[in-house]
Amino acid sequence: MRQHQPVNPFVCDCIHDTASCLSSSAVRNAAIKHVTIIGGGQMGAGIAQVAATTGHSVVLVDTNEEILKKSAKGIEGSLKRVVKKKFADKPDAGAEFIAKVMANVSISTDAASVVGSTDLVLEAIVEDLKIKQGLFGALDKVAPAHTIFASNTSSLPITDIASSTSRLDRFGGLHFFNPVPMMKLVEVIGTSATSQDTFDSLLAFSKALGKTPVSCKDTPGFIVNRLLVPYMMEAIRLHERGHGSKEDIDIAMKLGAGYPMGPFELLDYVGLDTAKFIMDGWVEKDPDNPLMQPSEMLNKLVAEGKFGKKTGEGFYKYK
Ligand SMILES: NC(=O)c1ccc[n+]([C@@H]2O[C@H](COP(=O)([O-])OP(=O)(O)OC[C@H]3O[C@@H](n4cnc5c(N)ncnc54)[C@H](O)[C@@H]3O)[C@@H](O)[C@H]2O)c1
Repeated sequence: MRQHQPVNPFVCDCIHDTASCLSSSAVRNAAIKHVTIIGGGQMGAGIAQVAATTGHSVVLVDTNEEILKKSAKGIEGSLKRVVKKKFADKPDAGAEFIAKVMANVSISTDAASVVGSTDLVLEAIVEDLKIKQGLFGALDKVAPAHTIFASNTSSLPITDIASSTSRLDRFGGLHFFNPVPMMKLVEVIGTSATSQDTFDSLLAFSKALGKTPVSCKDTPGFIVNRLLVPYMMEAIRLHERGHGSKEDIDIAMKLGAGYPMGPFELLDYVGLDTAKFIMDGWVEKDPDNPLMQPSEMLNKLVAEGKFGKKTGEGFYKYK
């Protein structure tokens, strides 16, 4: 894992002259080859792994070296698991594969100094609107005109995040699913200001990662969470009303609907804190929508620090 060598972020390397670089609507987006991923957590590291594996040049950015070292170790560990299966009889080819992928990834703690040659800034940091806006607002001033910005947010409007920048036409959403190397879907989100060129580039990039993209407008929850979160919340309410045990509801949805996990197992996997965070945001925006109502049981579990698998207890115990 290399430290990224910064290039001059103030040098515009797009194909236009300086004047047209400043004019956002004139910018056409070429294929995305160089990606800066901000946030080396669960999602950022997963996206970095997939992008590097598919031959993209990746800079992974986080707030400190320790986190980045952990992210790099996580990527390497994940690649080793891939190699164990794919190169079972060819250990040398496996090692070569890992070295090649890891050579595509560099790390940095200074986003502003690394975006000077990037085609895409993809953000996967903490789910906080102000912090995301601050990050993109600062990078908007130093990134080249052709650079597309995208957020991996699960619950915040892309339009609100983009409003901190002057590149509304080159801003979209790329919503990946956890664990990124395993999950095939990417929701590509366009706001009312996202240009067709930008949207097409994000679709093409998702395909270049080996994913299957679907197109979606900037609507709460996009497609998957808009359907999944109300479903999981109704499962909790069903249980709260005493109409079925969580075990029976899980069995029913697995055997009756063919779902790989029941709603309570899925809630524990996603994180009850995350589910509550998403629902609270929706309730605030649309309090009269019956699909978007809080649950006492969920709130109580979160208040007790029972977030699901990651804390050892949620609806079920994991210790
Ligand atoms: N976890 C999921 O299942 C999932 C799925 C889809 C989308 N998302 C979204 O992806 C984003 C990241 O989620 P995650 O689960 O990877 O979170 P995470 O907590 O695992 O990782 C976030 C990382 O961002 C870093 N960070 C925070 N502020 C930063 C800043 N200003 N600059 C650089 N790095 C910063 C943190 O140090 C941390 O390493 C969130 O917006 C979340 O809603 C999460």
